[in-house]
Amino acid sequence: MSKITWKAGTLLAPVPPALISCGTVDKPNVMTAAWTGIINSEPPMTYVSIRPSRFSHALIKQSGEFVINLTTLSLVEAADYCGVKSGRDTDKFAAMHLTPIACSKISAPQVLESPLSLECKVKNIMSLGSHDMFVAEIVAVNVDEKFIDEKGHLDLEKAGLVAYSHGHYYTLGRNLGGFGFSVNKKRLKKLQNKKLAKKIPEKSSLAKPKKKPKFKKKA
Ligand SMILES: Cc1cc2nc3c(=O)[nH]c(=O)nc-3n(C[C@H](O)[C@H](O)[C@H](O)COP(=O)(O)O)c2cc1C
Repeated sequence: MSKITWKAGTLLAPVPPALISCGTVDKPNVMTAAWTGIINSEPPMTYVSIRPSRFSHALIKQSGEFVINLTTLSLVEAADYCGVKSGRDTDKFAAMHLTPIACSKISAPQVLESPLSLECKVKNIMSLGSHDMFVAEIVAVNVDEKFIDEKGHLDLEKAGLVAYSHGHYYTLGRNLGGFGFSVNKKRLKKLQNKKLAKKIPEKSSLAKPKKKPKFKKKA
């Protein structure tokens, strides 16, 4: 195995092609951002990095609020559209048949069609170069009821979440195990058992080693 070194770049992948809604319910805007993620657990903190030239940049700077809405298979066309059209000249909610609805703690709108929307209040803005990073606290989370199981747990496996990787959108693949499965012998065994292990590509460390084929020595 060998690697070559390239010049520095933003090749981290996959990242979430999130729908960032802002403005108000009456005058909403939404843009797609892949430069977003979690940066603290308690209090729950996030960021979104936005170029100052974006229409959303001014709206978020002014209100100090935005919503991160997760993108699913049924929202992927909207996510792409909201990432190439500007709210300066297009009502993206209307164009993509998205519904802006009120949040619980902020006046920015959330996207009804998204299964999970994080209400965020800006705490700090850092100018990093091409982008300004809005560091924010997540002040409330809105979840589509149909993804809450009988025990009250969030289960987004069937939501069809979408990832963005090097310029392309993908749905998520198989569930490969839960947190800590590598040290939980029972779970590991279950995973390595029959069905799943067969489907996992040979190179994966989870795949069972193949038996070497036996060749009869030619006389
Ligand atoms: C998949 C994807 C990810 C994007 N990520 C970002 C991002 O993280 N930050 C950013 O400033 N622009 C990003 N963009 C571009 C903006 O979404 C785009 O410029 C949009 O038109 C801005 O909308 P607005 O002018 O209504 O704010 C992304 C576009 C796509 C398609």
